[in-house]
Amino acid sequence: MPAHVIGSDADVLAADLVHEHLQAARAAGREPVLGVATGSSPVRIYAELARRTASGPHSWADTWVFALDEYRGLATDHPASYAAFVERHVTRPLGIDPRRVAVPDAMAADPAAECRRFERVIRDRPVDVQILGIGSNGHIAFNEPGSVVDSRCRVVQLDAQTRQDNARFFGTIDEVPTEALTQGISTILRARALVVIAQGAAKAAAVRDAVEGPRSSACPASFLRDHPRVTWLIDEAAAAALAGAVSPAGRPG
Ligand code: GLP
Repeated sequence: MPAHVIGSDADVLAADLVHEHLQAARAAGREPVLGVATGSSPVRIYAELARRTASGPHSWADTWVFALDEYRGLATDHPASYAAFVERHVTRPLGIDPRRVAVPDAMAADPAAECRRFERVIRDRPVDVQILGIGSNGHIAFNEPGSVVDSRCRVVQLDAQTRQDNARFFGTIDEVPTEALTQGISTILRARALVVIAQGAAKAAAVRDAVEGPRSSACPASFLRDHPRVTWLIDEAAAAALAGAVSPAGRPG
């Protein structure tokens, strides 16, 4: 698994990778699909994509945008909902048609059926490049520790650690939902390419477990090493616990 310490160039490199993979899809005659993560880590990537869109010839008219997950029971107009996040940071700045955006429906009367529908959406139109963050407990999307590698879209209970970490987006921890709808690990691994961004000391242990620890449900991100095209963009603080050498800033091979 390649691991790269990129520092402040991470956003530029991630945006380059997004454009490359979406272009490859177009060259193969497909309408490209961008998979987007929420959280603070990828926000600067989306800002870089928006900057390029405002100043260059990039068109997103043919692009689909799929989210990884959503809090169960949170209305789409709640500012902490992932539907609101995707609109605020991705689809509105990039000018993407809302009909080309898919986020699990947090309010579905039958959330299990909604997860099956969302899994089909992704199966019918596989993601070309998926941006991912990592939780401080090693989660990807909302696949908490204990998640198995062949998991699909499903309803999950959120870890106490995740609710604590994400309380900053809500008034208090009590307002953080206890459940979510999430792509499974096998769903995520079907994307053609993965770009994982991890920044800050709070992610150091999770990055170490994901990259160098046992491949195990104890750290769901450790299953990313099953994927042939995963690029880790890790800053110095998040890389601090790694024992192995990491590449200096540069373009992954
Ligand atoms: C949430 C999301 C994850 C994201 C994680 C890390 O829990 N469900 O997809 O990777 O947060 O967020 P942050 O980048 O804010 O640390």
